[in-house]
Parts: sequence; C-alpha cells; structure tokens
Amino acid sequence: PAAPDLRGLRVLVSAGPTLEDLDPVRYLGNRSSGRMGFAIAAAAAQAGATVTLVAGPVSLPTPPGVAQRVDVRSARQMHAAMLDAARAADIVIAAAAVADYRPAQVSTHKLKKHGGAMILELAENPDILAALAALQPKPFLVGFAAETEQLEAHARAKLERKGADMIAANRVDAGLGIETADNAISVFWHGGQHELARADKTTLARELLALIATRRAAVRAA
Ligand code: PMT
Repeated sequence: PAAPDLRGLRVLVSAGPTLEDLDPVRYLGNRSSGRMGFAIAAAAAQAGATVTLVAGPVSLPTPPGVAQRVDVRSARQMHAAMLDAARAADIVIAAAAVADYRPAQVSTHKLKKHGGAMILELAENPDILAALAALQPKPFLVGFAAETEQLEAHARAKLERKGADMIAANRVDAGLGIETADNAISVFWHGGQHELARADKTTLARELLALIATRRAAVRAA
C-alpha cells in the first residue's frame, strides 16, 4: 500500500507490557518490549498525525515527532491514561500487552518464603479496549491479539467482544511477534481481512497504518 497520509488526525497508541505489583520487589509481567507500539507511534508521526503514546515500562526512547508520551506501570494506570487521552483521538491503536489479572492484594512488605506451595489470588483488570468502545463519539479502534493458536477465531472473537473496528493479530510462537524485531500480522474487520507478511516492525507499522486509513475512510463513507 501507498504511504499513509494522516495529516490532521490525532492518533493514540498504547505500547509495552503492564506490570502488576505483588510486593515492593516483585511483580507479574509479560515479555512485551514495546517495539511494535513504538514503531506504530513513529510511523504515525511520520505520516503527519498528532501522536500520543501511552507506554508501559519499556526501555525505548520516544520516537521523533511524537507529541506526547505518558508512562504508566499497571493496567489500571494504563486504563486511566488511555481513557483520558482517547477523548481527543480520532484513531486508537492498542498494541500494549495489558495484564488481564493483577494480584488481589499488594503486600506492603516483602513476602516471605514459607514451606510448601503458595497460592496467589488474582483480581481481574479492566478491559481498556472495551471501555474505549463505549466512548461517544467513538474513535476508530484498532486492537491487537497475540495468540499461540487459532489466530483467526480468537481475533474475530475479540473484534466482537471488545467492540473494535479492526484487530491486528500476531502469532507469538515462532520466534516472531513479542520481544522480536520482526512480526507478521493478520488484520481482521467485519467482512474482511488482510495479511501483512513477515517484515520488521517499522515496515509493518507503515503497512498497518495505510490499511487503517483506508478502512476508516470506508467506514465513514458507508
Ligand atoms: O512489544 P513487542 O515486544 O513489540 O510485542 C508486540 C506485541 C506482541 C505485544 C503486540 O503486537 C500485541 O500483540 N499486543 C497485544 C498483546 C495482547 O496481550 O493481546 P490480548 O489478546 O491480551 O489483548 C487484546 C487487545 O485488548 C489488545 O489490543 C490489548 O491492548 C487489549 N486489552 C487487553 C487486556 C485489557 N485488560 N485491556 C485491553 O485493552
């Protein structure tokens, strides 16, 4: 596809993992490096958009041209930052790997080892995409799905359940997707799909944005 033209549009991107504290020295987290989301933020800024980037804890510099970066740690902090910023966004792209659960209790003291197994109780985190889908007016919403199996079925289920306009699905089981420089993405929307072949995340970010611009225009024309 041709290079996307996003001049005049406000694009909100989430990136990276969320970390869920267990005690002052431990947390539950995941392997997201932030590379996919940061590449999207960089490409959107290059395409002329005004970009806000909400980032979980990652060690990446802010891409040139990004207007605003908000750093968060937990899913609940990301939820608050995304809802705040989404009110002024035309397009939201949720590339962050948000923890679905957090420890039900955060200990103020370092948990001590004791004999035998330990059982952790987890509480459910808010679903950020689903919350954004309820906004009026609703921004054009693009979610990601990281799957190890049944990519299309899980992605299409997320499209429905989360009220997104598009889902960018990546497989994470073949040295691809998470933590890596390369990715391959299957994009799904109501009534269609498109494959973005394996490439570095910078290339894929540009291709994904071009597809998003085309789909958004089609939805608005309908
Ligand atoms: O950061 P990298 O190392 O470059 O890796 C990129 C990536 C693999 C993390 C990225 O491409 C990706 O797939 N991100 C989403 C990973 C994920 O955790 O998907 P999910 O199936 O849990 O969530 C689906 C969608 O809902 C995502 O858009 C997610 O941001 C969103 N979500 C999830 C949980 C939650 N509580 N709220 C959400 O909004």
